[in-house]
Amino acid sequence: MSRKKRPEDLALFGGPPAFDEPLHVGRPNIGDRSRLLARINDMLDRRWLTNNGRYVQQFEAEIAQLVGAKHCIAVCNGTIALELAIRAAGLKGEVIVPSFTFVATAHALQWQEITPVFCDIDPATHNIDPNKVECMITPRTTGIIGVHLWGRVCAVDALDQVARKHNLSVLFDAAHAFGCSHRGKMIGNFGRAEVFSFHATKFINSFEGGAIVTNEDELAKKIRLMTNFGFSGYDHVIYVGTNGKMNEVSAAMGLTSLESLNEFVSVNCRNYRQYREELTGVPGISVAQYDDADKCNFQYVVLEVDPSTAGLTRDQLKDVLWAENVLTRRYFFPGCHRMEPYRSNFPHSGLLLPETERLSQRILLLPTGTGVSPEAISRICEIIRLGLQKGPEVRRRLEGGGAGHA
Ligand SMILES: Cc1ncc(COP(=O)(O)O)c(C=O)c1O
Repeated sequence: MSRKKRPEDLALFGGPPAFDEPLHVGRPNIGDRSRLLARINDMLDRRWLTNNGRYVQQFEAEIAQLVGAKHCIAVCNGTIALELAIRAAGLKGEVIVPSFTFVATAHALQWQEITPVFCDIDPATHNIDPNKVECMITPRTTGIIGVHLWGRVCAVDALDQVARKHNLSVLFDAAHAFGCSHRGKMIGNFGRAEVFSFHATKFINSFEGGAIVTNEDELAKKIRLMTNFGFSGYDHVIYVGTNGKMNEVSAAMGLTSLESLNEFVSVNCRNYRQYREELTGVPGISVAQYDDADKCNFQYVVLEVDPSTAGLTRDQLKDVLWAENVLTRRYFFPGCHRMEPYRSNFPHSGLLLPETERLSQRILLLPTGTGVSPEAISRICEIIRLGLQKGPEVRRRLEGGGAGHA
């Protein structure tokens, strides 16, 4: 494959795309297919497909052990896991959350008629800024949900302090943070409960899936019952519950995925280091860093583009890459507060979210995971470097309307 050197080599301006097939962010890690199929066959032989089956129980036990938490309840996805944790923890009224997150964090509240109150983020960590939480508290506030974005832990101690002072519950959306730790303590042990997602795009996946982990006995009991319609025994219901159960095929995939955890981490880490190395010194861009002192899943390669020094905006760089079949993603653009119903309910909330507004214009996620080779990463970095080096010309052509991309 020929190297790209001039702006006209870029696919956006007529050159051949660097990749024949689209390169997606979040292509699933698969693990050992024969182990998965053996489990599925066994499950079919035993005719036990769902309802707290053997694999679900094993998956829960392995997660609890890995995290070092007392309880794990596996469920059908991360969104339901959030809804269950929120309901069982008794949150109501208003709950403080970042806007810079996947919309499920806010929807899990709104779905239960709890108002998400959006708090700004710390630009250094991309996580909720604990110094800005206190001024969002009103008499209706019952809790805080922090999100460990990209697997980087929130300011857990500072959030805990604010929560104690105002008698609030703290939960964490740890959808990105399975397998990560903070000062030697695994994510899953902070706040009253933490929630994981095992969606196909996540580090460990069960096709669709999620889990709630907690060290509170009563809370765990309540969540477990609520996951199964609120049944406390045959013919006996004691809570408004839902159907949050994880099925056995998902658990089989989750267990298989867990067996490859170390391999996934090392491939992700290798990819992340390669991106960082190959993009070091390119003006105006940086790759978000992970703390070497802690465990990390390296599932996200997060590029920040400063348009004033990069020469292109994040969106222009995205257009360059998309034309090459590199389908980078603008997570979490434009921020929950600019999505419905939040945008209509609180049209001016952006005024209190300057860092969210700024960062959501700058972030671009790059493809990584076991489906992305070192050669592919080299080519992606080459395209980024060329696009930015030739920034003024690329911009001129783009703004001249010569080429565009959906
Ligand atoms: C931060 C965050 N929270 C919640 C979710 C919801 O998880 P799920 O897709 O498993 O419902 C996701 C991802 O999908 C996420 O990225």
